[in-house]
Amino acid sequence: DLGEYRHFMLKEIYEQPAAIQNTLSGRVDLENVRDCISGNPQKLAQVFDEIKEVQIIACGTSFHSGLTAKYWIESLTDLPCQVEVASEYRYRRQPKRDGVLVVTISQSGETADTLAALEKVKSESYLATLTICNVPESSLTRESDFALMTVAGPEIGVASTKAFTTQLVALQLLTIALMQRDSANAEKATVMLNNLKRLPALIEQSLQKDASIKAMSEAFIDKHHSLFLGRGELYPIAMEGALKLKEISYIHAEAYPAGELKHGPLALVDADMPIVAVAPNTRLLEKLKSNLEEVRSRGGVLYLFADENADIAEQENIHIIRVPEMPESLVPIVYTIPLQLLSYHVAVFKGTDVDKPRNLAKSVTVE
Ligand code: F6R
Repeated sequence: DLGEYRHFMLKEIYEQPAAIQNTLSGRVDLENVRDCISGNPQKLAQVFDEIKEVQIIACGTSFHSGLTAKYWIESLTDLPCQVEVASEYRYRRQPKRDGVLVVTISQSGETADTLAALEKVKSESYLATLTICNVPESSLTRESDFALMTVAGPEIGVASTKAFTTQLVALQLLTIALMQRDSANAEKATVMLNNLKRLPALIEQSLQKDASIKAMSEAFIDKHHSLFLGRGELYPIAMEGALKLKEISYIHAEAYPAGELKHGPLALVDADMPIVAVAPNTRLLEKLKSNLEEVRSRGGVLYLFADENADIAEQENIHIIRVPEMPESLVPIVYTIPLQLLSYHVAVFKGTDVDKPRNLAKSVTVE
C-alpha cells in the first residue's frame, strides 16, 4: 500500500527513521552488544575470542554497506577487514587464513552469487559465518552459523534504500560488539551506542531537506554523465549515491575518492557533467576544497552535501545542501538520505519507472 506516496521508493526512503529504530530496538541497551546476534550463544562467545579477521561478501548496495564497515572495523578494532563482491569471491582462490569471521550482507538473503560464495567458504576453512540479512526465513539466514537481522520490513522498490541504512546500523552494532572484546574500548563503545539512539531523529531532519534537494535535482535531467566524490568512509556512500542515480535515472554516474580526481577523471569535467560531493567532515573538507577548485576552474558545476557549520559558501557553480552537525560515527548513514532523494527526484523528473527500473530485478536469484 503506497498510502500518501507516489512510489514505493519514496515511501521506503521516508520509512527509514522507523526502520532504523526497529533495527536498534532492544539492542542499543545490551551490555554485550554481541547478544543481538542470533545463533548458539556459547559458540558465539568462543568465536568472538578467536576472531583474527573479518571477510565481508555481498553484491550491489549491500557491498557498499560492507565497504563502509571496513572503515569502521579497521579504525576502531585491531581486526583487518576485507570486502569483496560475491561474484568475484566465489570464482577466485583465497589463501588459507585462520580465524576468519565471514560476514555476508543481503537484503533478500536469496542472491545467487552471495549464496554460492557462502557455499564456497563452507567447503574451505573458516571460523564462523554470520549473515546480516533482512529476511528471517531466507536461504542465507538458514545456511549461516549466526545472523544479525536488519528490521527494515519488506522493501518493494527495486532500488535499495532502507535496507542499506539498516545494514549500516547492523554493521555498526557488529563493529561495537567487536570493540567490546577489548576492555580498553569500553568507553568509546558506550559513546557510539548512545550516539546511535540519536539516529532516527537525525534522519528525520535530513528528510526535511527534500524540497531543496528536489529543486537541485532539476539540473540533472538533461545530463548524461555525473561524478560522485567522497573521501574515507564517505567514499562508499558516494559509490552508493552513484549506483542509485544510474539505476533509476539511467544517467551514467561514477564514484571516485576525491583524491583520485587528478589521476584521470578530471579530464572529463566540463559544464555538462555535474559533480556531486559528500563532504561533511571539516578535516576532509579542507582537502576536498582544492579538488573542488580544480573542478570549478574547468567549468564543472558542483553539488555539495556539507555540514551546516562547514566553512564554505554558495557561489557560482557551487550549490550546497547543509546537513546538521552530528557525531562522526553517524555521518555515512545520515548523508545517504539526501543522495537517495536526489536520485529519486531526478528519476521522477525524467519519467522513468522508479520502482521497477528497466532490466533489473529485485532479487537476483540466478547467476
Ligand atoms: C541496488 C540493489 C542491488 C542489490 C543487490 C544485492 O539498489 O538493490 O544492487 O543490493 O542485488 O541484493 P541483496 O542485498 O538482496 O543480496
